[in-house]
Amino acid sequence: MSALLCIIAFLFGSIPWGYLIGKAKGIDLRKTGSGNIGATNVMRVIGKKQALITLLLDISKGFIPVLIFKIAITSDPVLLGMAGISAVLGHCFTPFLKFKGGKGVATSIGVLLAYMPLAGFITVFIWIITVKISKISSLGALVCFALLPLNVIIINYPKEFLIFAWLFTILIYSRHISNIKRLIKGTEPRIGENK
Ligand code: G3P
Repeated sequence: MSALLCIIAFLFGSIPWGYLIGKAKGIDLRKTGSGNIGATNVMRVIGKKQALITLLLDISKGFIPVLIFKIAITSDPVLLGMAGISAVLGHCFTPFLKFKGGKGVATSIGVLLAYMPLAGFITVFIWIITVKISKISSLGALVCFALLPLNVIIINYPKEFLIFAWLFTILIYSRHISNIKRLIKGTEPRIGENK
């Protein structure tokens, strides 16, 4: 059962929406801007409308499978957490792009909104505030996911949720190594700037 849920979630997460939206415009996102297939690079390279569509579709890849499993199949936080991580791994290592996918921020947020909604909303809020102030998308992701385990502790979720919160944080940080290097050098582009 757990393997089946993880496979379904992984396949959901694997759909490279940003890449497909880029292709529809004749652009390979992997070869332009930051090279990422996420909404930030879609905005950088294509435009706001397509970025919003990518963002919503990438969020839904995490949100829909976890919500359906939660309502219809299990309330076990370990099973749901494993399914959620699988959806994000699907996004980050999609077999449709030779296992080279995105950075997992929107899909993780989608998972969080279904899996631990209050922590998910707080994560989105922190992302919005950080990006409003800094105008740097990756910084928003790094700050809100750094604070996720603390949110989970403060909200007092059971310990299984904390373990998965850490896993999401580690996964997000591992996918943002190039962004972290640019942030340290001061060369990370702000929203509205091209790379
Ligand atoms: O969600 C990805 C974002 O945090 C960074 O994207 O394209 O600036 O590397 P990008």
